[in-house]
Amino acid sequence: MTAVDRPRLASLMEREEQRFVREHPRSRELHERARRTLPGGVPMHWMTKWASPFPVFVESARGAHFRDVDGHEYVDLCLGDTGAMTGHSPEATLAAVRRQLERGITHMLPTEEAAAAAELLATRFGLPEWQFTLSATDANRFALRLARAITRRPKILVFDYCYHGTVDETFATLREDGSVGPRRGNIGPAVDPGATTRVVEFNDVDALDRALAAGDVAAVLAEPALTNIGIVLPEPGFHEALRRLTLENGTLLILDETHTLCAGPGGYTAEHHLAPDMLVVGKAIGGGIPSGAYGFTAEIAARLATLTTLEDIDVGGIGGTLAGNALSLAAIHATLEQVLTPDAYSRMVPLAQRWTEGVERVLAAHAVPWHVTRLGTRAEYHFLPNAPRNGREAAAASDFELERYLHLAALNRGILLTPFHNMALMSPATTADDVDRHTAAFEETISQLVAVA
Ligand SMILES: Cc1ncc(COP(=O)(O)O)c(C=O)c1O
Repeated sequence: MTAVDRPRLASLMEREEQRFVREHPRSRELHERARRTLPGGVPMHWMTKWASPFPVFVESARGAHFRDVDGHEYVDLCLGDTGAMTGHSPEATLAAVRRQLERGITHMLPTEEAAAAAELLATRFGLPEWQFTLSATDANRFALRLARAITRRPKILVFDYCYHGTVDETFATLREDGSVGPRRGNIGPAVDPGATTRVVEFNDVDALDRALAAGDVAAVLAEPALTNIGIVLPEPGFHEALRRLTLENGTLLILDETHTLCAGPGGYTAEHHLAPDMLVVGKAIGGGIPSGAYGFTAEIAARLATLTTLEDIDVGGIGGTLAGNALSLAAIHATLEQVLTPDAYSRMVPLAQRWTEGVERVLAAHAVPWHVTRLGTRAEYHFLPNAPRNGREAAAASDFELERYLHLAALNRGILLTPFHNMALMSPATTADDVDRHTAAFEETISQLVAVA
C-alpha cells in the first residue's frame, strides 16, 4: 500500500459508524440525556475525541477488561491513558483504599503511609526526597516553580510536541521560523509561551546547547522518551548530552516519568541509570486513585529549605488542600508495593513485544509501510516507514481521519486504544489472549483498508 484510498476510507468509516450506532443503543440514550447538562455529553470536553459517534458508557471495569452499558466486553489497551496501567481496580489497591476509606479520607495531617510511599519511590527512582500532589500536572507545575525559585532564572525548556499535562509554559511549539509560539489548540494562554519557554527538537543536541547557553533557563522538563506524539526514543548519547549540558549551564533537569513508567519499575530513569535533579510521576502510581509525586536530590532539598518561611509556607503557589491526602497515599503505597512490581513488569514487557510482533506481521503481510515502536510495556504504530527522530517528524505523519477509522474499527471488534494516537499499553492483568484479539482485529481492519487501495 502506498497511499490511503480516501473515498474507500470514508465509506469504511461510515460502515463502522453505522455498526457502532446499531450496537450501542443504551450508550446513545445515556449520551442524549447527558447532553442536556454536559457540553458534548461528557464530564470533560476531551472525552468527545473518541472515534465513535458518541462515547461508549462504561458499566464496569476490572483488570484488563471493561463492559459497556450495552453488555459488550472490551480488551482495554488504553487503560485510562496510563491511569489504569495497573489494570482496573487491582485487588491490593482496593484493599488498602477500603481500609483507608474507613479511617478518614483527608485530614491535612500525615499518616504512616506517607513515609512508606516515599520510601518506595526513593528506592525505585534513586531520589531521596518526595512530595505528593493529586496529579502529574500539579507535580510538574510545582517542580517548575521550585526550579525557577532555586535558580532565580525565568525560562524553562521543553521538547517540541511534548505533553506534561495542563502546564501553561509547556504548551509551546517551534514555529517554521524557529521562534516559539503557542501550540495549536492552546486555549486562552495567560501569556505567549514564547515569553516563558524555549523549545527544541528532541534528539537535537546542538539546538539544546544553543538554547541553554544564554544562562536563563531554570529547568529542562522532559519525558525521557516522548510518548505523547507517539513514542519517540532518545538516540544513543542523547541523555548523556542532556545531563552534561544542563550541568554545565546551571540548569536543573526534571524528568517526567508519568508515561515512561512503562520502561520498568523505576521508569526510564532507573532502567538507563539517569540522574535527574527532580523527577515527576503520576497517573498509575495510585492504581487510578488521583495521585502524583515529585522527587528531588538532597542538594535540591537543602536549597528548598531556604526558600520560604514557616509563616508563608502555605501561600507559595505550591500545594492544594487535598494534595498528600491519606487515601492517595494508601493507594500509592499498596500499588507500588504489590501491583506494579518487578514481577508484573516481567510479564507485561513480553506482552508488549507480542503486540508489536503481531502488528508488524499484519503490516508486512499487507505491505503497509508503518513503523512500530515499543518502550517496555507500551507500543505504538506510526504511519511512517521508520521510527520518527523527533516530535515534528512524528506529528507530520499523523493522519486524523485514518486514525479515527482504525480506532473505531478496533472498538467495534472489542478493543479500546487510546483516543490520542495508536497506542497499546499492557497491565499486570493483560493476557496473551487479549493481545491476540487485537492482532486478529487489526488484521481484519487492515485487510479491508488495503482491499482496493
Ligand atoms: C508525560 C505526562 N506528564 C504529565 C501528564 C499529566 O497527567 P495528569 O493529566 O494526570 O495530570 C501527562 C498526561 O497525559 C503526561 O503524558
